[in-house]
Amino acid sequence: MAFKLRKAEPRDVSDILRLVKELAKYEEMEDQVILTEKELLEDGFGDTPFYHCFVAEIQGESSDDPKVVGFVMYYFTYDPWVGKQLYLEDFYVMQEYRGRGIGSELMRHLSDLAMKTRCTGMMFVVAENNEPSVQYYKRRGAEDLSQEEGWRLFRFDKDSLVKMGTPAEE
Ligand code: ACO
Repeated sequence: MAFKLRKAEPRDVSDILRLVKELAKYEEMEDQVILTEKELLEDGFGDTPFYHCFVAEIQGESSDDPKVVGFVMYYFTYDPWVGKQLYLEDFYVMQEYRGRGIGSELMRHLSDLAMKTRCTGMMFVVAENNEPSVQYYKRRGAEDLSQEEGWRLFRFDKDSLVKMGTPAEE
C-alpha cells in the first residue's frame, strides 16, 4: 500500500490528537491526555510553534480522502555541551498499518532533518514496559542513557511551579 509523508498542516490537528490518544492508550495512560484541538492548533501553528509533526497518509479505502495513519511529533532543544538537538516526542503508526516501512520512513525524514539543521543527536523517552519500542530503537543504534549514564527523568507539576513562583510570606 502506497503512503506519503508530509509536514503537518493546521487541518491535521484532529488526526494528530486522535493519534496522540491512540499512542497514550497503547502506553496505558490515555486518561492523562487533556490537550484539545484548539491548543494543538495554537501551539503548533502560531507565530512560535512549540512542536512540529510529519504525518504519514494513505489513500482512503472507502473514500477519495487520504487517511492519516501515523505521525512523529518533534521539536528542537539545545544541549549546552554539544549544541542543537532534535527531541522526538511521539512516534506512532496505527496497528493495522505497521510493518510496512512507514515508521522507518518517518525516522528517515527526522534523521534527514537533523542532518540538515546540524543537530548533534535526537533525544527521546520510552516507557520502560514498551519493550518492542526499546528494541526497535536499540536495533537502530540508540543508547539507553538511564542505563549507561544514570540520568533520571524529573518533572515539576503545575502546583509545584505555582508554589515556587509565589513569593514567601514575610
Ligand atoms: N506490528 C508491530 N511491529 C512490527 C510489525 C507489526 N505488524 N511488523 C513488523 N514489525 C517490526 C519489525 O520487526 C520492524 O522492526 P525492524 O525494522 O527493526 O525489524 C518494525 O516493527 C517495523 O518497521 P516499520 O514498518 O518501519 O515501522 P512501523 O510502521 O511498524 O512503525 C512504530 C514503528 C511507530 C514503533 C510502530 O510499531 C508503533 O506505532 N508502535 C506502537 C507505538 C509505540 O510504541 N511508539 C513509540 C513510542 S516511544 C516514543 O514515541 C518516543
